[in-house]
Amino acid sequence: MLDTFIRSLGDPLISVSLIANLYILWRIISPLFQKTAVPPIGYPHWMPFGSYYGGLRFFFNSQKMLREGYSKYKSGHFMVPRWRDWVILVTGDKIVEELFKMPQDTLSLMDAAKDELQISHTLGLTSFTDPYHVPLLRTKFLRHQQVLVAEAMDEVTSAFDRVIGQHCKDGSKEFVVVDEAARIVAQTFNRIFVGNPTCSNEDYINIVSQFAVDAMVTATIINIFPRFLHSLIGSILSKLSRTVRRASIHLAPLIEERKKVYEVEGGAFPQQPELLSWLVSSASGEERTTEALVRRMLVVNVASIHTTSIVFTQSLFNLVSRPQYLQPLRKEVEEALHQHGWTRRALDSLPLLDSFVKETMRFNEMGSMSFPRKAMKAFTFSDGTHIPEGAYVSTPFSMHFDEQYYPRPHIFDGFRFVQEDQNGLKFSSPEMTRTSPSFLSFGHGRHACVSFYSSDLWQRLISTLDKAREISCDIHCEVHASACPR
Ligand code: HEM
Repeated sequence: MLDTFIRSLGDPLISVSLIANLYILWRIISPLFQKTAVPPIGYPHWMPFGSYYGGLRFFFNSQKMLREGYSKYKSGHFMVPRWRDWVILVTGDKIVEELFKMPQDTLSLMDAAKDELQISHTLGLTSFTDPYHVPLLRTKFLRHQQVLVAEAMDEVTSAFDRVIGQHCKDGSKEFVVVDEAARIVAQTFNRIFVGNPTCSNEDYINIVSQFAVDAMVTATIINIFPRFLHSLIGSILSKLSRTVRRASIHLAPLIEERKKVYEVEGGAFPQQPELLSWLVSSASGEERTTEALVRRMLVVNVASIHTTSIVFTQSLFNLVSRPQYLQPLRKEVEEALHQHGWTRRALDSLPLLDSFVKETMRFNEMGSMSFPRKAMKAFTFSDGTHIPEGAYVSTPFSMHFDEQYYPRPHIFDGFRFVQEDQNGLKFSSPEMTRTSPSFLSFGHGRHACVSFYSSDLWQRLISTLDKAREISCDIHCEVHASACPR
């Protein structure tokens, strides 16, 4: 009998089906061997293939599952199944603080990204192993913020005009807000990433906006397959090299030009401050090749475009569905612009708008949990939660709906974060511009979003986008009264 079995293994069909069956069997029984006492949630435990059912549920409605876990195990921990693995969710201020402060050799964002985002097939490995762009975004932007705000302000108006076109004058026009918002954001940010006129080049905007979508789709498909097939599927699906080649048509001449300036001027760039010049002057070794610099620029676009455009879209929808906010927000923006013009100071005097956008980010969560970290070794949190080596650890965004942090959390309160002094002067509450274990939309701790570290400059820029079109219409009306549609 053993002989027959061994002989039948020579048949490729039988071998493949045997491997597949063993794999499925392992997926069923592996939870029994897990060395963690973390309670699982999200599926009936008696059910054969229950974790797969839970994994599918998580794929389609992770928010509901995580809220269920949060209400059951608040200030504790639980785990949820995903299609290919499990994530341990920790909750409670102290432990969440520990999670985000843990050193890389214990909890690694990079190693989680390698798996979650399949970065070697989607974004390029070195954007995570050598993230030299992050300190540039944190420090240089802050130093040059006056000029950068002026540049972005100039571009945002023309981006609205270019993308939405004559909408303001010719009556209504239908468009998919989130797509058009992505194009407006891409053009605006690229004004300070790569400068004029590339930032408004139609083909370039398409490439950088589509890149993030391709990366996410590719990573999701690869992760459906078992680990040993990842390289094969990744090499078939990856659009990385093709996109780098397409983007090089626009960026390579700019990079060459900056390299020349850098070599002749010895590092002093005479032109406007912009990210590309800083990348050229900071990259070293392999990362200094034109191809690597183009890839890096694509990665920065991935981090900035869709995050911002989704927040913008949600803010706009909240504004449209709650018209009582229109008048006070418009008044605040008009006064700020009248007093300070399109400057950083104007952005600093928009507490109502800041609050409205922050409330949008709380209320309309982008995702359901923070980006997971991978445990590089086994360790124990201070509350005794044991994390085995190789586990993924995260925290749910469910605290955004916890009464303990936000009174009446299920009500959208656009001015929730605004405070008033004795003279009735409105200002942003300290929570407004701070990440914390109870506000995680910009992350927290060592990898928190650079837009927060830049003294909330980016966030304020983002906040202003949703009023910019209306304002530009108003300005247009004032200048050309006869052409005014209102
Ligand atoms: C509303 C818009 C944005 C949202 C909601 C957002 C969200 C986030 C979050 C949640 C993280 C933390 C990831 C983690 O620790 O798990 C993050 C990190 C990051 N963000 Fe943003 N982001 C936004 C805008 C931007 C913009 C405009 C830029 C670029 C100019 C940017 C660049 C980055 C970078 C480079 C990191 C990684 C920081 C690090 O690894 O140390 N983000 N962002």
